[in-house]
Amino acid sequence: MKKRVLSGIRATGKLHLGNYLGAVRGMLELQNPSAGTGQVYETFYMVADTHTITTPYDIEELRKNRREVIIDYLAAGLDPQKSVIFQQSEVPEHIELAFYFSSVTTIAKMQHLPTFKEKVKLHPQNATMALLNYPVLMAADILIYKAGLVPVGIDQEPHLEVAREIARRFNQDYKTDFPEPQRFKTEGEYVPSLTGEGKMSKSVEGSYINLTDDLETIRKKIRAVPTADTSGGEMSEGIKTLFSLLKLFSVQSHDKFEKEYNSGRLQFVSLKDHLAEAIFKELEPIQKERKRLEQDTEYVDRIIKEGNQKAREVARRTIREVREKMGLG
Ligand code: TRP
Repeated sequence: MKKRVLSGIRATGKLHLGNYLGAVRGMLELQNPSAGTGQVYETFYMVADTHTITTPYDIEELRKNRREVIIDYLAAGLDPQKSVIFQQSEVPEHIELAFYFSSVTTIAKMQHLPTFKEKVKLHPQNATMALLNYPVLMAADILIYKAGLVPVGIDQEPHLEVAREIARRFNQDYKTDFPEPQRFKTEGEYVPSLTGEGKMSKSVEGSYINLTDDLETIRKKIRAVPTADTSGGEMSEGIKTLFSLLKLFSVQSHDKFEKEYNSGRLQFVSLKDHLAEAIFKELEPIQKERKRLEQDTEYVDRIIKEGNQKAREVARRTIREVREKMGLG
């Protein structure tokens, strides 16, 4: 059997550059192996719409976003001929498996995860069971397809550790054969915020670039990254951000600008404008394809329906096996 891959992004809005670099580029890499080798992995890519309800959300926004993320996937090059592209909530077996998994997961362990603590800090009134269960559902997302490889950003590592522990424990107790999933690392696994503080995130205003931003908008956002009066010496966080983005979008010019920086001759605005253009150059074809897909409702609907069906077939098989082994079948 081919090794399986699963990944997902929460349905909190259209994708931004952090999602693209941290997850989508890795998803593409695993979907499209280098020329001549044929497809090496069986790839499952979903929009994590069930996970969206673990923190306060707007119903109409979710209704819209669980489709928008799929359109972003398709526009970025995820190919329904090669990957199963689907909506998590349309495969309710994920939730069923998460409940079974919760029987081998302690409350204490979940309460101590950094991701849980951060979210509780943001929404102190909403420390719900759903939020506590977030990592358990994520383990079910991955293991229901017996996926061994997960292209996601570095911030998801604690969740993957939980998935590995659950797989080990479940295999021990019930003689199942779940793999221990590993993270597929990409160069863009950590994308810094444009504010020069922390990571690029939808929840921090001024921190991100949307995949749909035009050149003018990107230029404005990049120009606003805090730098310094002169170049040379220790780099500030904002300057480091610019150089890490350069590495991701314009490797060739990275070293040239770095030399200029070190010699004290760098004009930050020329680096910034070059970077903005390099980012836009990669986003432009995605934006064109997105516009086309927005018009083709029938095609998108069909792809979603077929993807949901394919995913569900695989998920059902795992559930049947698990129930049987747990004494519930
Ligand atoms: N927790 C992931 C994030 O915030 C989204 C996600 C949900 C996911 N289920 C997943 C990622 C399964 C990979 C695999 O980015």
